[in-house]
Amino acid sequence: MSQENKYRRHFPLFDHQPALVYLNSSAVNPLPRFSIEKLTQLLGQTVLLENRDNAFLSQKINQMIEITRRKILNFFSANEKLWFVFFTAGTTDWVNRLALLMLTDFFKEEDKVLVGQNDHQSVVYPFVWLSQLAKASKPKMRVWVRFYLNAENGLIDSRNFLSLVDSRTRLVILSLVNNSFGVINDLKWLINQTKIKINNSQEKLPLFCIDINQAVLRTKIDLESIGGDCYFFSGEKLLGLGGVGVVIVRKDRLKTLPVIFSGSGGGFEFSNNELSIKNLWQAQEVGTKNVLGIVSLLFGLEFIEKIGLETIIKKNYHLRDYFLAKLRQVKFLTLINEDTFVDSQRVGIFTLTLNERISLSDLGLFLKKNQILVRLDDLCQARPDKNSFLRVSLNFYNDFEDIDRFFEVFTNFFEKVGG
Ligand SMILES: Cc1ncc(COP(=O)(O)O)c(C=O)c1O
Repeated sequence: MSQENKYRRHFPLFDHQPALVYLNSSAVNPLPRFSIEKLTQLLGQTVLLENRDNAFLSQKINQMIEITRRKILNFFSANEKLWFVFFTAGTTDWVNRLALLMLTDFFKEEDKVLVGQNDHQSVVYPFVWLSQLAKASKPKMRVWVRFYLNAENGLIDSRNFLSLVDSRTRLVILSLVNNSFGVINDLKWLINQTKIKINNSQEKLPLFCIDINQAVLRTKIDLESIGGDCYFFSGEKLLGLGGVGVVIVRKDRLKTLPVIFSGSGGGFEFSNNELSIKNLWQAQEVGTKNVLGIVSLLFGLEFIEKIGLETIIKKNYHLRDYFLAKLRQVKFLTLINEDTFVDSQRVGIFTLTLNERISLSDLGLFLKKNQILVRLDDLCQARPDKNSFLRVSLNFYNDFEDIDRFFEVFTNFFEKVGG
């Protein structure tokens, strides 16, 4: 076994599918053996419920949930005194809650939300949809949803962004790494520029909410230095299960955020026919938790610790460089932003445009026959491009052989169809 593929053996998926070339980590990662074994053990030992019995079965689960919170903060080197972690049902769930803020007095009339026009559907559509629903009813929504643009190289167009932002901007959704372009946005600079433009007046600053789904494991993330107020991602991006999400929020900013959902779990108190918030933190996690999802993150993080985050990130950058070098040797595939990007400002996520004559369904079948798994559709972009494209996303369990195989199969395909 070569030095480069020593991580593949940690993922049982590849024992079952030895020939699989898995190039879709941007969508979901396979679970490590370590996590599968720990989760299976836990499932046989207890019931997955926190806080709801006379403390002998749920106690262990409660502890594990608290350890997961701490491990997440640790993973991002975030100070427990300043930051708080809570769990959601995933990114989509959280962003819909942010969108519902448009119905509360968090926003004043004529305030704005800024979203990226080329970002993932789940961070854009909830705002657009709620505006549409409100438009159809009365009273009308008085919050404006505005789209900022990506430049040709995929990075946020800072000129355009800064021209939109002003003291009426209450909420800004930004992606650290764009899910189709793979570029790393300099959010620290952008947030700083925004603050300068709005004169640094704290009460006028928007809430900066940052999507880090495609950044975790691929690049170092320093929450404090970037300057965001809230960072979010879904479990499947950090070697956990899907259907669970993480929000890391500055404690002082959480206090200013209205709570949207209510339900059981200790967050609320009912008296005189009215509900009030009893515990702000618990109010963000109402209902029965997705314990399996939460602890899958705990085990995923333990596994990452064993390998070392720096080692993982370094491996991911090696894979990126190797892929780019191979790509530049072929003529039949082009990177969506080939002419304008800087290699060091991107991660191993590549969207490739295909010759118009290529039938996506033929290509899909050919790739399937050769056990190459990539993403082949609209990539969940808020405004999908009309050209056909394909996304390759790499992660540390991939190896150079995966990349070689991808190009070999593509060369065969193009020779066949004469592309
Ligand atoms: C950048 C980005 N944001 C948001 C999401 C949505 O996450 P979920 O479907 O888990 O809610 C994804 C999922 O692939 C993503 O890549």
